[in-house]
Amino acid sequence: MPSRREDNLSRPRISIREMEIDDLAPVYHLGESLFTRTALPALYRTWDPYEVTSAFTTDPEFCLVAEDGRGNIVGFALGSTVEKEGSSWRYGYLAWLGVKEEFQGLGVAQRLLHEFEKRMKEEGVRMLIVDTEGDNAKALAFFRKNGFRRPTSHVWLTKSLVRPENGVPKPLKPLAFARRRTGATPARKNSAPLDSPIPLP
Ligand SMILES: CC(C)(COP(=O)(O)OP(=O)(O)OC[C@H]1O[C@@H](n2cnc3c(N)ncnc32)[C@H](O)[C@@H]1OP(=O)(O)O)[C@@H](O)C(=O)NCCC(=O)NCCS
Repeated sequence: MPSRREDNLSRPRISIREMEIDDLAPVYHLGESLFTRTALPALYRTWDPYEVTSAFTTDPEFCLVAEDGRGNIVGFALGSTVEKEGSSWRYGYLAWLGVKEEFQGLGVAQRLLHEFEKRMKEEGVRMLIVDTEGDNAKALAFFRKNGFRRPTSHVWLTKSLVRPENGVPKPLKPLAFARRRTGATPARKNSAPLDSPIPLP
């Protein structure tokens, strides 16, 4: 059976280069098709135009694109350098890496990463950091294949502020407020003043 790469031998040639201003919209729209709500359910990282524009304005040398022979953007890598207080090391963070679905399995991401690493090394970076969802099998396989090790877990918790869940205090009944505001019914002796926080049960 042919490998994923052999299946795609007929694809056009891809070149890797630094991102330019005209690439902002194509990169953003490509990311929209890759970083969807279902692909990134936790929303701790949200793909939006600001991700692209801020990376481009602050660290343009770490914003790379992959372009096919017809000038279409088919992949990108966006990152930055990070300095930790108390550490003499410089770190590199690859925040977003994406390859258009039809071009996946051709080694495009590998080439983007290779160029990204080269630029990071030139900048004196000693360690690269990446992150992705724990169930993003493709990305994890890609990062492992490219030498990323020692995955560290970080737990994200969520709490709805609009739908009561177990353990969340119920708000006071609106009726009680209404009566006290109009003064039609005298406030009960033990009731909290209007501006006090909602009492815990
Ligand atoms: C992860 C991603 C960037 C990989 O891009 P790609 O261009 O397909 O990757 P490459 O072709 O360069 O793959 C290089 C190696 O990674 C591994 N790999 C990549 N995709 C894989 C897959 N679907 N299954 C298994 N291994 C895979 C392989 O070892 C591969 O080498 P090989 O083809 O010689 O076996 C791409 O799947 C993608 O854009 N995913 C959606 C966005 C995303 O999740 N980004 C990462 C977090 S920001």
